[in-house]
Amino acid sequence: MPNDKPRVARPPQEPTMTLELTINGSAKTLQVNPGEVALDTLRRAGYASVKRGCDEGDCGSCSILVDGRLMRACLLYAGQLHGRTVTTVEDLGTARDPHPIQRSFVEAGAVQCGYCTPGMILATHALLTEHPDPSEDQIREGLDGNLCRCTGYVKILDGVRLAGKSLRDGGDQ
Ligand code: FES
Ligand code: FES
Repeated sequence: MPNDKPRVARPPQEPTMTLELTINGSAKTLQVNPGEVALDTLRRAGYASVKRGCDEGDCGSCSILVDGRLMRACLLYAGQLHGRTVTTVEDLGTARDPHPIQRSFVEAGAVQCGYCTPGMILATHALLTEHPDPSEDQIREGLDGNLCRCTGYVKILDGVRLAGKSLRDGGDQ
């Protein structure tokens, strides 16, 4: 994962900055404290798929794509998103019309409680964008920063392989 520790502090001040960015294809203007954590900003703005896990950059639950790169929202200041393009899993698909990666995870049985799943889906998206036909090592490396307490990972890795095949066979990205 590209973010660096240490953990970002959460000053309690009132919003003092106008943040302009694109989230899931829509231009957004948000009032934030420039020192607040992007995870808090995004959740407050309604992007509930960005999950709070460890708060320290270790679990990947808060994964987002920033200008297409996989990042951890708990390690970013809100101000660092100014002018950026953010993608959360809400942009990929819906329950009625899931993205091929989401469909593959379900078909592989890679979802149990689902808490880690948005981060896993985005990590898989980033992996398959860079490596459409990833090796086993690339798959493991691509998901290395995302932890799951439920599945034991075997089915998640199956889901990633299935998603890669589905996309190579013509599924929409
Ligand atoms: S909550 Fe951000 S990596 Fe765990
Ligand atoms: S499915 Fe429960 S934490 Fe991964």
